[in-house]
Amino acid sequence: MSVPTFDATGLEPRSATDELRADAPLARTPDGTWVVLRHAEAVQVAEDAQTFSSAVSRFLQVPNGLDGAEHAAIRAATDPFFAPEEMARLAPVLRTIAVELVEELMDSVGPAGTEVDAVAALGAVFAVRGQTAWLGWPEELEPELLDWMVENHEASRSGDLARTTAVAERFDTIIRSVLAPRHAAGAPEDPTTALMRLEIPLPDPSVPGSTSRPLREEEIVSILRNWTGGDLGSIALCTGVLLMALSRAPELAARVRDGSEAEAGAIVDELLRIDDPFVSNRRVTTCPVTLAGQEIAAGERVMLHWTSINRDERVFEDPDAVAPEANAAQNLVYGTGPHVCPGRELATLELVTLLRELLAVADVHPAETPGEREIAPVGGWAHAPVVLVPRG
Ligand code: HEM
Repeated sequence: MSVPTFDATGLEPRSATDELRADAPLARTPDGTWVVLRHAEAVQVAEDAQTFSSAVSRFLQVPNGLDGAEHAAIRAATDPFFAPEEMARLAPVLRTIAVELVEELMDSVGPAGTEVDAVAALGAVFAVRGQTAWLGWPEELEPELLDWMVENHEASRSGDLARTTAVAERFDTIIRSVLAPRHAAGAPEDPTTALMRLEIPLPDPSVPGSTSRPLREEEIVSILRNWTGGDLGSIALCTGVLLMALSRAPELAARVRDGSEAEAGAIVDELLRIDDPFVSNRRVTTCPVTLAGQEIAAGERVMLHWTSINRDERVFEDPDAVAPEANAAQNLVYGTGPHVCPGRELATLELVTLLRELLAVADVHPAETPGEREIAPVGGWAHAPVVLVPRG
C-alpha cells in the first residue's frame, strides 16, 4: 500500500485531510511521522497504550506524557477534580461570568446588530475568567493570561521550538506565582490548593514501604499547565467553531437556547465533531505493530489526527450532516482510551453556559466579513466574525 506524504505546514487541517482520507487510512509527514486519518485505526491506537506510548516529549507532561501504572495513578487522583459535584459547584459561578461578559459585550451592540469576533471577544475572555474562577486564581491575572494566549498561539503557529519553549517557561512563571503564596498558612480552599495537598497512590522512593506520596512541585506545575492549556486555547477555538456554525443554522441555535442542557451539550459535541479545532495528539510505538495493513517498526512516531478522524465517511456517512444522537457514540472529539480527556464535562459546561447566556439575549447572524480559518497545528477559526442582534 502506498502511503501519501502529508506536509501540514501552513495548511488548514480540515480541508487538508478531507481528500487525503478518501484514499488512505494513513499518511506520512516529511519527517516520517505516521498520521492516522481514519476512525478505526484511531481507536486501535488510542486504546492500545502499551504499543502506542504517550512518552513523546523530552519535557515532563503530567498526565499527557505518562504511561502505564504511573499514568493510571495520577488520573485516578486527579479525575475527581472534574466530578459531577465539582461541576455542579462551578455551574452558577460560570453562569455569572457568562452573564457579565455578555452584558459587557451587548453594551456596545446597537439595535441593528454589531459584528464581533467570537474567538477573541467571547471565547478567549470567557475561558480566562472561567479558568481563574475555577482554580481560585487572582482576577488580576486576566490581562497577563490573555496576552500569554496570543503569544502561545503565535508560537505554536510558527513551529519554532525556541519560541514555544519560551512561552512554556513564561506560563510556568505565572503558575509558580500562584503557587508560592499558598505554601504559607491560610491558603484558600480551592482546586489549586487541593492539588498541592493531593496524595497520589504511588510509593515514595524516599520512604520505604510507603504506598502514596504528594505531587512534586514540577508535577503540580505540569498538571496545571495541561489543565489550563487544554482549557484556554481550546475553549476559545471551540467558541469560534460553535458560533460560526450556529450563525448559519438558526433552528439549531434555538435548540441550544431553548432545549435542555443535555440537548445543548449534544449539539455542541456534534458541531465540534464536524469542525474539530483540537487537531492532534502524538504517540510513539514501543514494539513492531500492524496498522491499516502497514508494518510499523518500534520507535516510530504516530499522530492521531482527530480533525480528520471525526470526519471519517466510513463512520459518519455525511461528515457535515448534523446528527447529534446518531453520531454521539462514535464521536472522538475528546479522544478515547486511557488518555481520554478528563476535562470533557468542564469544557461542555463552559461552552453550553456561554452559548445559552448569549443566545438568551442575542440572535447570532453571519457577518459580511469573511472568517479566517486556522492553520496547523490548530484548527477551527482564527477569526470568527458574527453579528449579534439584540433579541426583542
Ligand atoms: C475544550 C475542548 C477540549 C477538547 C476538544 C479536548 C480534547 C482532548 C483530547 C482529544 C484528549 C486526548 C489526548 C490523547 O489521547 O493523547 C485530551 C486529553 C486531555 N485533556 Fe482535553 N480537551 C478539551 C478541554 C479540556 C479541558 C477544559 C481540560 C482541563 C481543564 C482538559 C485537559 C486534558 C488533559 C489533562 C488531557 C490528558 C489526559 C491524559 O493524558 O490522561 N481538556 N483532551
